[in-house]
Amino acid sequence: MSTTVTVIPGDGIGPEVTEAALSLLDAAGAALEYDRQLGGIAAMDAVRDPLPQATLDSIRRNGVVLKGPMTTPAGSGFRSVNVAIRKEFDLYANVRPVWTLVPGQRYEDIDLVLIRENTEGLYVGVEHYIGLEGDPRAAAESVMIITRFGAERVVRYAFEYARANGRKKVTLAHKANILKCTQGLFLEVGETVAREYAGEIGFEARIIDATAMQLVKDPYVLDVLVMENMFGDILSDLMAGLVGGLGLAPAANIGADAAMFEAVHGSAPDIAGTGVANPTALCLAAAMMLDHLGKGGPAGRLRRTIHRTLEDPATRTRDVGGPATTAEFVAAAIRNLDR
Ligand code: NAI
Ligand code: MG
Repeated sequence: MSTTVTVIPGDGIGPEVTEAALSLLDAAGAALEYDRQLGGIAAMDAVRDPLPQATLDSIRRNGVVLKGPMTTPAGSGFRSVNVAIRKEFDLYANVRPVWTLVPGQRYEDIDLVLIRENTEGLYVGVEHYIGLEGDPRAAAESVMIITRFGAERVVRYAFEYARANGRKKVTLAHKANILKCTQGLFLEVGETVAREYAGEIGFEARIIDATAMQLVKDPYVLDVLVMENMFGDILSDLMAGLVGGLGLAPAANIGADAAMFEAVHGSAPDIAGTGVANPTALCLAAAMMLDHLGKGGPAGRLRRTIHRTLEDPATRTRDVGGPATTAEFVAAAIRNLDR
């Protein structure tokens, strides 16, 4: 029986990197059927809705999505479709691994995983303006929501991830010194969950700003990190920078009934349509999707060919110092599959 996954190409470089990922999935023997759906600006243009019902129905049917980045207007306009999908399907754990793929970056031998809480925190979108003395936007207010339920399941996910992947330590990054209730609750719950894993998986709590410094100064002391939504958004881009940039960083959004696989990067409007986008991030997300589907064989083949293709300076894309276009990278990765 063949497996069907929902595919949303997205905006900007989205369609370019999505086609690249689908070609490599097929070449690696993933044997998937693709249910192509619209989302983001592409959907706005076609059906005046950034997240059409047909797309939601498809995700509900298939339970697995491979998604290109989507453009979100800043300041005003429709809410992030990415955030909306994560909320709709309760994809509570955002798994963002980074490891060294291209030598000669800021560090060698990086191997880190950030688990970002994906449904609460500062990104719940509970915010408004406050009018004062004729200025309707004299002030603005956002709410950070942390629940015991939400904190517990994401910290537990981090420990279970560590257990399943032979990791040694979970670091919980927080700001409980200042945000005593919200971040304090996250920390308290984290410490409680950690006790269940004592003796098997190490645990430490670090303040978020000091964690950012630590990541840049000596990332080797860290292993698996877990934190609130916005902190995780920011630090996962920082971690991508440690290994060579956003072109290399995949992400999995995991819930009980559905999972969405995407790149950490956005739609990169500055290079969209020029054919130079690095498809590595989405291809590695596709490999995570294969693992999730129990297709470890093709997942391994896909990862190995990406590694080989990035090892050769001649087949690297521009963002990591090479001359290759997206299409040349894909052609090389297909050649490298059977090496
Ligand atoms: P971005 O990640 O799109 O781009 C940042 C920089 O990294 C740009 O210089 C871009 O050229 C480069 N870059 C990103 N991906 C690359 C790749 N695969 N290959 C080569 N270079 C790459 O972030 P930006 O510009 O802040 O956001 C653009 C749009 O994307 C915004 O509308 C934002 O809301 C959206 N976005 C969507 C995300 C998603 O769909 N999950 C995640 C992040 C941003
Ligand atoms: Mg981000």
